[in-house]
Amino acid sequence: MKVAIGNDHAATDLKMEVMEYVKSLGHEVINFGTDGHESCNYPEYGEKVARAVAAGEADCGVLLCGTGVGISLAANKVKGIRCGVCSDTTTAHLIKEHNNANIIAMGARIVGSELAKDIVKTYLEAEFMGGRHQTRIDMIHKIEEGQQ
Ligand code: RB5
Repeated sequence: MKVAIGNDHAATDLKMEVMEYVKSLGHEVINFGTDGHESCNYPEYGEKVARAVAAGEADCGVLLCGTGVGISLAANKVKGIRCGVCSDTTTAHLIKEHNNANIIAMGARIVGSELAKDIVKTYLEAEFMGGRHQTRIDMIHKIEEGQQ
């Protein structure tokens, strides 16, 4: 898979570790930065990854900031994006199986690097279940279209 990855300054070290791990699993990584530690604005990186996923340039995305919350809020403003914060492996598989999330977000101030890697692996290996879950996703996107 092609995995887009992005982060703010709070998560650069975790991003480097997660990025190498995702590559070691055999995936291609597109790194949207930041690679620095100086203060920056998470919406910029959330938007870059979200636009790449929405355009089909990447199959899915991984976003990292201090809590995972801010960068996920930004990503969800891009049409077609379903991004949620994962801090445990149960959410990591259900977010794909039920919500068909195309991006996951994590907080570098919340999860350690071993858990973050487990979360990403779990998410990448999970499969969307479809059926009633697709109906609910369709409802979400109708809200996005202003039809509901
Ligand atoms: C940056 O200090 C921090 O606010 C950001 O990384 C993130 O946690 C926001 O949700």
